[in-house]
Amino acid sequence: MVYHIDEILRDEYIDKKVTIRGWIYRKRRVGKLIFVVVRDSTNIVQCVVEKNNVNPDNFKLLDKVGVETSIIVEGYLRKDERAPTGYEIQADRIEIVGPSYNFPITKDKSDEFLLDNRHLWVRSREMTAILKIRDTVFGALHEFFREKGYYETHGPMFVTGAVEGGSTLFEVPYFGKKAYLTQSSQFYLETLIYSLEKVYTVAPSFRAEKSRTRRHLTEYWHAEAEAAWYHNEDMMRDEEEMVVYLIQRVLEERKRELQFLKRDLEILEGIEKPFKRMRYEELIRFAQDHSVNIQYGDDLGADEETMITQNFDAPVFITHYPIEIKPFYHRPDPENPKVVLCHDLLAPEGYGEIIGGGERIYKLEVLLQRMEDEGLNPEDYYWYVDLRKYGSVPHTGFGLGMERFIWWIAGLSHIKYAIPYPRTIRRTKP
Ligand code: 4AD
Ligand code: MG
Repeated sequence: MVYHIDEILRDEYIDKKVTIRGWIYRKRRVGKLIFVVVRDSTNIVQCVVEKNNVNPDNFKLLDKVGVETSIIVEGYLRKDERAPTGYEIQADRIEIVGPSYNFPITKDKSDEFLLDNRHLWVRSREMTAILKIRDTVFGALHEFFREKGYYETHGPMFVTGAVEGGSTLFEVPYFGKKAYLTQSSQFYLETLIYSLEKVYTVAPSFRAEKSRTRRHLTEYWHAEAEAAWYHNEDMMRDEEEMVVYLIQRVLEERKRELQFLKRDLEILEGIEKPFKRMRYEELIRFAQDHSVNIQYGDDLGADEETMITQNFDAPVFITHYPIEIKPFYHRPDPENPKVVLCHDLLAPEGYGEIIGGGERIYKLEVLLQRMEDEGLNPEDYYWYVDLRKYGSVPHTGFGLGMERFIWWIAGLSHIKYAIPYPRTIRRTKP
């Protein structure tokens, strides 16, 4: 019977006949024996192939081929403390399916080389572990929203206006006209709360980020939600519940992968709701007390985010940012209209912003005034403005950067490891 490797690494299979399929991870010849470590999507196992036990042509071929050759091995499982995963398959039949010679990825290749060969590097055990964590995070996110009564929906990717400011828009030719790749599905989600009340989407967002940092991609996966009748605090409660849920699911399902990546689990295990809330002005004082060079009114840059959040051991919500440093749609605080009812969630350990969200302006006059202040033409946003004319309601939403989250949870050094094919200022291949 054909098994996945991880299924058979247990005593009940000792001396049983098993067949596995996978790729050669390591290979070593010792006299009449060839030791092959085979990997599949689940784990690795050592196989020992003795010359006289298998077909001679297959033995010769096995001796020649290199790592990443695909292979089928049939044999008896034995316990062996010296083998990398504690067991060994004594082969009596092998089949080379797709040979591989001179696999380009060897030890100590540069980061640039690994990125150029990402289509091959995704097979590494490290990338495999990250991709599994990513799978769990995406799955758990859908579980969370559905359980919470949010409907899944989708906005377009070709759009005609900015959500998060014009400077990071990607322009694309569109049959003789101009269109942009969306920076966020927020405005479309806002239209959909009038039918579904609570909505979410998981979709790509595009940012023409000119900055080269450890936290910026030009194309990233964005989990966004929007809810009618919600105020800032209501949404922050859903978000902290979501973050705690996602972490729990990853700890349940992917502890082995986290350990493989040498993630410090203690910090993840200690994360509980509610998260601390801090006003922007408090954050600035906190930053100044921790020797970060920042003044009231400044936006947090990548370096400031790193320096500030190195002092955190759990996520922190930052609220009440000055109106000037947030996009026009944020609702000014009725108690102090110089600040807006927004929230950013900063991840600890130097990771920084993973969520941006807040309450939206729902009164027509206020929105038109804010657009005028920002030099925006309401005609370009006629449909967004319409929402404030026909039965407007208070509402709040947020966006979670999926790669930012995975970057943090997996404890990665750069966001480019959190996605199979990263797109950055310098990279559109493979
Ligand atoms: O803070 P941002 O720009 O907020 C919005 O787009 C809102 N319209 C979302 C909403 O309220 N529906 O982006 C939201 C999140 C950030 O907190 C960050 O996690 C992620 O998106 N993000 C990026 N991730 C990777 N690369 C980039 N260049 C990113 N820009 C933002
Ligand atoms: Mg933001």
